[in-house]
Amino acid sequence: MALSSFGYVGCRSSDLPGWKEYGTELLGLQMVDSTRDTLAFRMDDRKQRILIEPGSGGGVSFFGWEAEDLGALDAICNRLEKAGTEFFKMPRALCAQRAVTDGVYFLDPAGNRLEVFYGAEVADDDFVPSRAISGFVTGPLGLGHIAIYVDNLDTAHKFYTDVLGFGLSDYVTAPFRANFYHINPRHHSLALIEGANSDVHHMMMELYQLDDVGQGYDIALEDPEKIATTLGRHSNDFMTSFYTRTPSKFLMEYGWGGKLIDVNTWEPFELKVGPSLWGHERSWLDDEGRAKAKELRMAAAADGVQEPVYVADHNFIDNGINCAWWQQAHQK
Ligand SMILES: [Fe+2]
Repeated sequence: MALSSFGYVGCRSSDLPGWKEYGTELLGLQMVDSTRDTLAFRMDDRKQRILIEPGSGGGVSFFGWEAEDLGALDAICNRLEKAGTEFFKMPRALCAQRAVTDGVYFLDPAGNRLEVFYGAEVADDDFVPSRAISGFVTGPLGLGHIAIYVDNLDTAHKFYTDVLGFGLSDYVTAPFRANFYHINPRHHSLALIEGANSDVHHMMMELYQLDDVGQGYDIALEDPEKIATTLGRHSNDFMTSFYTRTPSKFLMEYGWGGKLIDVNTWEPFELKVGPSLWGHERSWLDDEGRAKAKELRMAAAADGVQEPVYVADHNFIDNGINCAWWQQAHQK
């Protein structure tokens, strides 16, 4: 696999004070740099993961995809060259700004600026979240995932799979077309949604504890207008999450319990159930879209479409209950 994870992101916003408050008080990020024009946040041992730059249109100004080392970066450059995609070396000053050793930048077919880098700098001091959360699931899985609209899904699919080496996890064809891609065991680091523009739909960050998400939901409920999608559970990565509106106009998914896959044996398939097993009432959809989403949710409930939760070892206690009756009743 050529790329290893979603490493960093640069967001545009005309409301830096708004991002300061949103990033710290709701998301629990650590603000590490604040100038008159920019903000930088930490979410783990890295010096920075999320950068905010001034810009009236909102959205994302650059996506940072991580390569494991110089060899992996070179391999990507070879593939870009073969595909006829023009790319440029990131100048020293830019690498310093991104806190990485080296990298290149180029545009994807939808016009998004992608940066591929290696050697992210690690901070000397520990990550200190701005509110009492247990922390973010990052490391080899990257900072989370990103979902973007592309005007031509087939062209974008070819670029992200053939040139950048993303693997298809699963896809939906109705009521709209969307593909989900992995580059590490996280079920998806990227989602491409067919749409008229190339806006970012949402970004996702995953928390260690379910209670981080629940307590974040309580904080978000203080201003219900900010909630774009209510608490619910996705049907493909099984993430329990809710979405809020960021000061960069796109949405932020705040979730727990995402599915991990074996990238060597995974086979892509078409998702036939709706995007959510329950919840996730989407206030950003029009009336027709909301009605359709509700119909799909109610169908999932009627059909008993359910999945066990995915937890890490340190996130559960085995209570030792071993009930033969329950096991027999639930054997598939
Ligand atoms: Fe998502």
